[in-house]
Amino acid sequence: MPGLPLIIDCDPGVDDAVALLLALAAPEALDVLAITTVAGNVGGALTARNACLVRELAGRPEVPVFAGLDRPLVRAPVAADHFHGESGLGDLPVRAPARGPETAGAVDHLVQTLRSRPAGDVTLAVTGPMTNLAAAMREAPDIVARIRQVVAMGGARREGGNITASAEYNIHADPHAAEIVARSGVDLVLLGLDVTHQVTATPPRRARLKGLDSPQARAVGQLLAFSARTEAEIGLGGPPPMHDPCVVLWLLAPDLFRLRPCHLAIETESPLTLGHTAVEFRLSAGRPQTALWGVEADADGAFDQVCDLLGRYG
Ligand code: BDR
Ligand code: CA
Repeated sequence: MPGLPLIIDCDPGVDDAVALLLALAAPEALDVLAITTVAGNVGGALTARNACLVRELAGRPEVPVFAGLDRPLVRAPVAADHFHGESGLGDLPVRAPARGPETAGAVDHLVQTLRSRPAGDVTLAVTGPMTNLAAAMREAPDIVARIRQVVAMGGARREGGNITASAEYNIHADPHAAEIVARSGVDLVLLGLDVTHQVTATPPRRARLKGLDSPQARAVGQLLAFSARTEAEIGLGGPPPMHDPCVVLWLLAPDLFRLRPCHLAIETESPLTLGHTAVEFRLSAGRPQTALWGVEADADGAFDQVCDLLGRYG
């Protein structure tokens, strides 16, 4: 059976890079049609360059990269280069990629792909601010019904925020985009800090990667070591959460996660809580289900999957 047709919309980003390497390791399960990039952790030129470098590292030069929007829909850009390094790829060596992004932009590509493929065929994995997807939905509302599912990393309920007291970075960085997606009626799975903080790269888990002898596994080890240092210095102090990889892991092994139906609303006004995800489990006629929210993850099982996927390289 062919893999799930998938577009990965991302802002690499240390953990986005890990997510890409995992997704590109499983072509029989995930048919990555394209990678689209957006400004987020670092600027748009860098996230596009980084996606091109990661597809080369994965040995998947045929996967096209489309560069997307350079700034959020409404608010001013919020970078997270303190967590991802100036380049966005921690301390991995960077250079100009052998092949750059395609000439078409990400938003046009999303619209065109969703219109040209059969309805309900394409899944979107979103691991950055939702700017590209929201812009595509705004420009071409007909695409909403054509998307199979959006699986995104974003938001926080039980855990509180990681960029402000109450907001998670991806949603805070473009709350207006997240609101468009949340209200669109698209089939939405949201994996926020409540689950990604459970899937951490502890020292024993990172040590397992040392047994895998491939450039890709070594790069993941280096990226996670970088995140471990930044989490200790400027983050919450624990082992680094595998935020974006959770999206890929859920697509490959949904049983690793427990989700609950919820009504989702995004704070777009308050300077104090901008980007807060109001996740309501008490559903009613006036507050219908609009998303599935990740509440629990099997971290050991998730890391077994990570090792299994990385073991396919080399
Ligand atoms: C999210 O924010 C970004 O910095 C990471 O790449 C991840 O997508 C975690 O809050
Ligand atoms: Ca990201």
